[in-house]
Amino acid sequence: MTTTASIDPAAAERLRGRSLLLTSDASADELAALLAVAERFAALDRAGKKAALLPHELAYAMFFDNSTRTKSAWAGAAARLGMHPVIVDGSSTQVSHGETAAETGAMLGMNAHALGVRHDLILGEGNAFMRDVKKGIDDYLAATGDPRSVPVVNLQCDIDHPTQTLADLCWLREKFPEGIAGKHIAVSWAYSPSYAKPLSVPQGLIMLMTRFGAHVTLAHPEGYRLMDPCLASAASHAASSGGSFRTTSSMDEAFEGADVVYPKSWGPYDLMLSRVEANRARDTKRMGEIEKEALARNAGHKDWICDERRMKATRGGDALYMHCLPADIGAEVSPGVMAKHVVNVAREANWKVYVVMALLAAAKVPDLARRLEAL
Ligand code: CP
Repeated sequence: MTTTASIDPAAAERLRGRSLLLTSDASADELAALLAVAERFAALDRAGKKAALLPHELAYAMFFDNSTRTKSAWAGAAARLGMHPVIVDGSSTQVSHGETAAETGAMLGMNAHALGVRHDLILGEGNAFMRDVKKGIDDYLAATGDPRSVPVVNLQCDIDHPTQTLADLCWLREKFPEGIAGKHIAVSWAYSPSYAKPLSVPQGLIMLMTRFGAHVTLAHPEGYRLMDPCLASAASHAASSGGSFRTTSSMDEAFEGADVVYPKSWGPYDLMLSRVEANRARDTKRMGEIEKEALARNAGHKDWICDERRMKATRGGDALYMHCLPADIGAEVSPGVMAKHVVNVAREANWKVYVVMALLAAAKVPDLARRLEAL
């Protein structure tokens, strides 16, 4: 059974026409309204009630990286709202032939009613691409006197993964109805042999969970730092919310007494940065070499695994294990810990469909709080 907080109508109304390309684009009360809208959509859906608030509209999404869950959440959210979802591979668009983000935005925005974008692999590029796409759409709509609002939804960029971290927060609110203020959350690097994963999930987590009074510990080996503005944002949010933020180079220390652990891998910072030049030069050979170097570097830290020994050190030996998925089982997490939490991580993932619904509806539906109440 999903419990729902009441939706602040004024905060929900302030989200109309907006694209939250980082969770920090929204105030804490706007985020609270968004979470309450997501919870309301979840409760309606789980009760079998329809919420087709945006019938016959086109929800177009471009992915410049692989995805299972987020593509499915985009399609599921659009269908539940009565929209038509379309998902394309970003590398199949004319962006790879040099079309600018603003041109792409104008061309897609003239037909679509909402646009999702995943562009997460190159530091300094994904979020900027989304902002340029948004400007291209808005400039086109303004120049043609078109009153439509076409929000851009960040489906993961180089800085943040808002639909993931907001889904994570919905799941935490479900597990801890009293809220996450005062809870100890360990966001830790973990070993992965599969690929050099983006930085955006840990960055998004430390920036968002500190908004709501959590005590967040970030752990990683030397060389795996995150982007400075994200670290600064986490520290500033913690100072404002009454939570705290600290970093450590010990996974054991981060797990000690934690209520929640979120161990996942990301790529070495210097190598993620060196991808920028290789990508600009379209040097696929160098990109391949960087990937190999990153995996070799990761292999120096195989002991960074979320296993039964480390879980024993958490609060009551029974912290909530979280992961955005897919997890490298046997590397990031032991098979036993994953087996124990396999339904938990699926339920965590399921929240994303309601978060995408909330982002689309908040941006596009007037008087949303009242409309949802009426449903
Ligand atoms: N967690 C997440 O974003 O999953 P996908 O990459 O499969 O979309």
